[in-house]
Amino acid sequence: MLILGIESSCDETAAAVVESGRFIRSNVIASQNDLHAEYRGVVPELASRAHAERILPVVRAALHDARTSIGDLDAIAVGNRPGLIGSLLVGVAAAKALAWSLDKPLVAVDHVHAHLYSGLLMSTSVQEAGLSDQGISDHFPALGLVVSGGHTALYRLDSPTTLRRLGGTIDDALGEAFDKAATILGLPYPGGPNLDRLAQTAGANPRAHAFPISRLSPDSLDFSFSGLKTSLLYRVRGLPAPGGVFARDHTSLADGERADLAASFQHAAVQAVVLKIERALDRGPASEPPPCSLLVGGGVSANSRLRAELTRLAAARHLRLVLPAAPLCVDNAAMIAGLAFHLHAAGLTADLNLQAMPTTAC
Ligand code: KG4
Ligand code: ZN
Repeated sequence: MLILGIESSCDETAAAVVESGRFIRSNVIASQNDLHAEYRGVVPELASRAHAERILPVVRAALHDARTSIGDLDAIAVGNRPGLIGSLLVGVAAAKALAWSLDKPLVAVDHVHAHLYSGLLMSTSVQEAGLSDQGISDHFPALGLVVSGGHTALYRLDSPTTLRRLGGTIDDALGEAFDKAATILGLPYPGGPNLDRLAQTAGANPRAHAFPISRLSPDSLDFSFSGLKTSLLYRVRGLPAPGGVFARDHTSLADGERADLAASFQHAAVQAVVLKIERALDRGPASEPPPCSLLVGGGVSANSRLRAELTRLAAARHLRLVLPAAPLCVDNAAMIAGLAFHLHAAGLTADLNLQAMPTTAC
């Protein structure tokens, strides 16, 4: 079964063809990073215009790379939520038009849930993988972690399509906190990867500053990163004088100081995530079988320290760790097409009344 996935929820215009829900035949991503860099963040109006210009060339490129023609597709899938409404509308309109004109099923996919699926995708063909089935079911039940620029949440998954949200951020998403921290440190856009790179430089000390690791109430599986961000702000600029004026900014930091601050921030942010995963594992209901794997997705799953810490945690807890390859950490359409396979199999298709929604389903 071949599914075309379309993704346009934020600032990446993406299309992909995935076979049998697992094998990536093509994965095309047109990033808008250059367009938004001067504003240090995504400008929604510019994003939707760029999606409208790029969506058809990107779909064509995905079909070309997959060496398939439009008539060979079995379904059209689209990320219809959550995201910037103007951006989502472009992908949803394109997917509806394709599904209607080809008379193929339309599948609506929650972008956040799709991030959890991205690590299960394979870049080999069905034949090369040599699997008797798709090899998906033995990853469940799973604990899921999504860490992106807009979302940070923990899930319990009993299958790719059966999931329950256990907790989420009560303020900033983890990627948002990394991006704001990078701005405080005077690093160029996009902030998260640049902060990660700086934190890895030789001599950068993750214990130079004891930044707060948010715990919230003892049973909470929610996250909070705003205190950590403010703590970094005050460490860089000093406490604000009346009227909110700061005495200094990142320009007075020496290179070594900046690297220590980046490494210490990253350490605290990652420890806060690890703490909640440990809690979720320790406090899962006794009535449920414990998770056998940890599925991780979203832009921040590319973070070097997070990957290292999750690898350590998974080994200690005897969990199978499923981390996406670098191109699948960011927003992509292969994860949309992959998850759509399971939604389609479960009869969860959409019709032409499908709406774009700014929020996640759960
Ligand atoms: O999933 P994604 O591409 O878009 C959303 O759906 O939000 O995630 C983008 C986020 C940005 O905040 C970016 O700074 C962050 O992921 N990010 C990273 C790293 N790579 C991307 N944050 C920390 N370390 C990284 N290596
Ligand atoms: Zn995303």
